[in-house]
Amino acid sequence: METAERIQDRPDSKTISPKTISQGISEEIVAEALAGLLSPRKSLPPKLFYDEAGCALFGEITRLPEYYLTRTERLILETLAPALDGLVPRRAALVEYGASNEAKAELLFAACDIAAYVPIDIAADALASLSARLAGKHPALTVHPIVADFLAPIALPREIASMPRLGFFPGSTIGNLDPRAAVAFLTRARATLGEDATFLVGVDLEKSPNLLLAAYDDVAGVTAAFNRNILARLNREAGADFALAAFAHRAVWNPAEHRIEMHLESLADQIVHIAGARIPFRRGETIHTENSYKFTEPRLTALAMRAGWRVERIWTDRRKFFAIAALR
Ligand code: AVI
Repeated sequence: METAERIQDRPDSKTISPKTISQGISEEIVAEALAGLLSPRKSLPPKLFYDEAGCALFGEITRLPEYYLTRTERLILETLAPALDGLVPRRAALVEYGASNEAKAELLFAACDIAAYVPIDIAADALASLSARLAGKHPALTVHPIVADFLAPIALPREIASMPRLGFFPGSTIGNLDPRAAVAFLTRARATLGEDATFLVGVDLEKSPNLLLAAYDDVAGVTAAFNRNILARLNREAGADFALAAFAHRAVWNPAEHRIEMHLESLADQIVHIAGARIPFRRGETIHTENSYKFTEPRLTALAMRAGWRVERIWTDRRKFFAIAALR
């Protein structure tokens, strides 16, 4: 059962470290970017993707014909209603990790008896408009937004202390964490949600590399623009001088690690300046910008077990492209 110690007041936004994702790059992130660019195998932190332009590009990605993830997950969620009825207690609190809009939660509101909604996201503006929309649409639902990096420890609001919990982490965002970070996240979520919680986690499944590569290298070039935006952002907000046309988007399937990797490949020998540092690039050298892990049922089960969860059920689509797991 949930203990009182675990429930504290909702953290107010001033107590949250200003890891400014949408409002500009903090010194901390510039330092992280610099460390990545100065390392022998260059990399940049994926959190740089999600400024306003990056969020808009990601929205476009989710509607691309090649990017099957979002629409397949939605299809699965739409068919879950009868199954969830037996799994989720009445008057539950839905706690969503990384909730920039309510689209997926709405499917759960329709499927089970949700009395309170706790959307957690770093983007304060998005959470404020989400809360306003829900107040109009679902006046009986109480909404307790938490502005926080969902990878950091979260204290749930006192108001949901006595309610059963349903955790929700859709979109295969867990696939953007390396296995160690994924286990750490799931372990923390277990402590936050409490003993009797159910946790619904969306994961992308391993499939033909051709399909995966197309999803991360679309014909229209939206994913390429999303990847390059990371450099444009460093130019805009950290005074860097990346020549965007001199870097090409590359999506690579890494079978040993079961992940799609995104890279930016330097098309020439060149020097880039950022934060007083001089970064030399050889032609063909890449900056590793993102990992997107793909799962099988046994690998997901093993990952959940390492974090103290057991997989209660897994739902998938007809083509077995995507899965939603109910962890207990
Ligand atoms: C947010 N995340 C689950 C996306 C993914 O599929 O890994 C990010 C993304 N990167 C390129 N396309 C989409």
